[in-house]
Amino acid sequence: MRFTFVTLFSALIEGYFKDSILKRAIEKDIIKIDYLNPRDYSKNKHSKVDDTAVGGGAGMVMNPQPLFDALDDLKSKDENVHIVFLTPVAKPFVQNDAKRLAKKTHIAFVSGRYEGIDERVIEKYADEVFSIGDYILTGGELASLVLCDAISRNKEGVLGNAQSLEIESFETQLLEAPSFSKPQNYEGLSVPSEYLKGNHSKIRSLKLALSEAKTKFFRPEQLLKHKVQSH
Ligand code: ADE
Repeated sequence: MRFTFVTLFSALIEGYFKDSILKRAIEKDIIKIDYLNPRDYSKNKHSKVDDTAVGGGAGMVMNPQPLFDALDDLKSKDENVHIVFLTPVAKPFVQNDAKRLAKKTHIAFVSGRYEGIDERVIEKYADEVFSIGDYILTGGELASLVLCDAISRNKEGVLGNAQSLEIESFETQLLEAPSFSKPQNYEGLSVPSEYLKGNHSKIRSLKLALSEAKTKFFRPEQLLKHKVQSH
C-alpha cells in the first residue's frame, strides 16, 4: 500500500518512519511512503504557495494553483489514488475509518499549513476530509501521520502478533481491559488475582467488567452505544 504526503514540510513527517514499527513495514514492502511538495508546482516566480485571505481574516491561505497542479499530476499517474484532506473542519477520524482505508491501494494525505487551504481545492479533489480531534494544530502534518499509523497497523504483517488486532478498544464500543506484564508482584503491587489462576472464562468475565468500568469512567457515551448495540 502506498501513502503520499502532500506537504510543504516533509521533514516533519520523515523522522517518524526512521524508527518505528512502520520502518519495519516499509522494509517488508507492506507500505511505501513518498512526498509531494506543492511548492515544486508553484508558477509564482518566488515559488509562493500562499496568500492573504480574500474577504479578509487573519493569516495566510494556501493558493489553489500549486495544489491543483500537484494533485492533477498525482492523479494522472494513479487514477486510484484516494485523496484525504486533514483539517479541523471535518468529520472525526475513528477506528472503523482506519480499517476501511487499510483496503485502499494508494492514499494521499493533503496537509494544510497557515490558516488553511483554499476551499476550492478541497471541493475539487477531496475523496474524504478528516479531523483528528476538537483542537487546532499548527498544520495537518501530525494529523496525516496519525491516520497513516492507524491505517497501517491494520495491514496484515505490520504488527508482530496478528492477535493484537482481534479484540481492541472501539471494536465493541468498549475500551480495552487493563493489561499487566511481569512480575506478578512489583513493589507490593499485585496484578488482579483472577488473571493468575488460569480460568479463562473467569478471566474473560473479569476483563469485560473492567472494560465496562473503564468505559463508564472515561467515555460514558460509548457505554451507552455498547448497550444499545449488544441488545
Ligand atoms: N489541522 C489542524 N488541526 C487539525 C485537526 N484537529 N485535525 C486534522 N487536521 C488539522
